[in-house]
Amino acid sequence: MPDLFAPYELKALSLKNRIVMPPMCQYAVVKQDGTPNDWHFVHYVSRAIGGTGFIIVEMTGIHPDGRISNQDTGIWSDEQIEAYRRLTEAVHVHGAKIAVQLGHAGRKALDADPPVAPSAISFDANSKTPQALTREGIVELIAAYREGARRAVDAGFDTVELHGAHGYLIHQFHSPLTNVRDDEYGADPMLFGEQVTRAVREVLPAEMPLIMRVSAKEYVEGGYDETYALEFCRRYKAAGVDMFHVSSGGEGPIGSNGGPNAGPAYQVDLAEYIRSGLQIPVIAVGRLESYEEAQSIVTEEKVELVAVGRGMLSDPYWALHAEEALGGVDKANVPKPYERGVWKRK
Ligand SMILES: Cc1cc2nc3c(=O)[nH]c(=O)nc-3n(C[C@H](O)[C@H](O)[C@H](O)COP(=O)(O)O)c2cc1C
Repeated sequence: MPDLFAPYELKALSLKNRIVMPPMCQYAVVKQDGTPNDWHFVHYVSRAIGGTGFIIVEMTGIHPDGRISNQDTGIWSDEQIEAYRRLTEAVHVHGAKIAVQLGHAGRKALDADPPVAPSAISFDANSKTPQALTREGIVELIAAYREGARRAVDAGFDTVELHGAHGYLIHQFHSPLTNVRDDEYGADPMLFGEQVTRAVREVLPAEMPLIMRVSAKEYVEGGYDETYALEFCRRYKAAGVDMFHVSSGGEGPIGSNGGPNAGPAYQVDLAEYIRSGLQIPVIAVGRLESYEEAQSIVTEEKVELVAVGRGMLSDPYWALHAEEALGGVDKANVPKPYERGVWKRK
C-alpha cells in the first residue's frame, strides 16, 4: 500500500515522498526583471529543508507581458538562468526535486498594456480589454513556451509544469467562453494547448515527465464541466503530458451554480475523475493540509501526489511535521542541525 512517505517515480523524476509544494506567486521580484532573488531562494529552499519531496516554483512568465504583475518571476531570457540554477542546486542538496510552472496570464496580465488573449473579452468590468492575438503572435508565444522550457532544463529543473488552469492563457484558449476566434484556434479550442505541449516536449529530455495544471471545472455562468475537462486532458495527454495537477476555477466571476465549497479536500474528486478517466497519474490540491487527510488519499490510492499550498506558507516544515504526527520521523529525513527539534522518532 503506498504511503505519503513512500518514494514515487515517474519516468526519470524520482521523489523521496508524495508531498508537493504547489506553485504560489510571491509577488516578490523587486527590479521587475523577472529574476528570482533572495526571498525566492529562502522561501523554496526552506520547504526543501522542511522535508517536501517535490517543489513547484510559482507561475513564471515565458514573456515579460505574460506575468500577472511585474513583481512576478520570468524565464524569457538566458540571463535569468543563473539565478534559477542557484535555486535548483540548493533544493537538490536537501533531497527534494524541483519544477517550474511556466505560464502566460493572457487577459489577466495586470501590467501588460494591452494584455493579449485569444479574443478581445475582458475578465470583468474592471479589467483591461485584451488585444486578440494575431496568428503570428500565437506562433511567437508557442516558441516562447518552448524557450522557457529549454531554459528550465538548462537551469537544472527536474521537470516543468505548464499552467493550463485558473483562467490563464492556455485555459483562455480551451474555454469556449473566452475563445470566440474565427480561425483554426477557435474551431479547435484545444489546438493552442496541444501545440504548446508539443513544443515544450521537443526540448525536454525524453525521460523527463511533463506536468500540466488544469482547471477541471469552471464556476463562471455557462462554464465547462469536468466531462469537457477530460476531453482537453485527453488531447494534452496524447501530445505529451505525463501527469495532471488538478485544480478548478479562476476564469471569471462566479455564476449562479456557485463556486467551490473550498472546504477540506474540495478538489480531490476532480483529480480522481481525470485519473480514472485517462489512466494517468495526478497531483491533488486544495485544502489538504490535514495530515490524516493527505495520508488517506494516498493510501486509498485515489491520487499519486498531494500538494499543500497555504499549509506550507504557514509551516515550511509541514512535511516533517506530518511525518512526526503520522508515526514518527525517520532520522535520515531530518537535517542534522535540526535533529534536537524532533520529538517523535520512528
Ligand atoms: C499566495 C498564493 C499564490 C498562488 N499562486 C499560484 C500560482 O502561481 N500558480 C498556480 O497554479 N496556483 C497558484 N495558487 C494556488 C495554489 O497553488 C493552490 O492550488 C491553492 O492555494 C489551493 O491549495 P491549498 O488549499 O493547499 O492552499 C496560489 C495560491 C496562493 C495562496
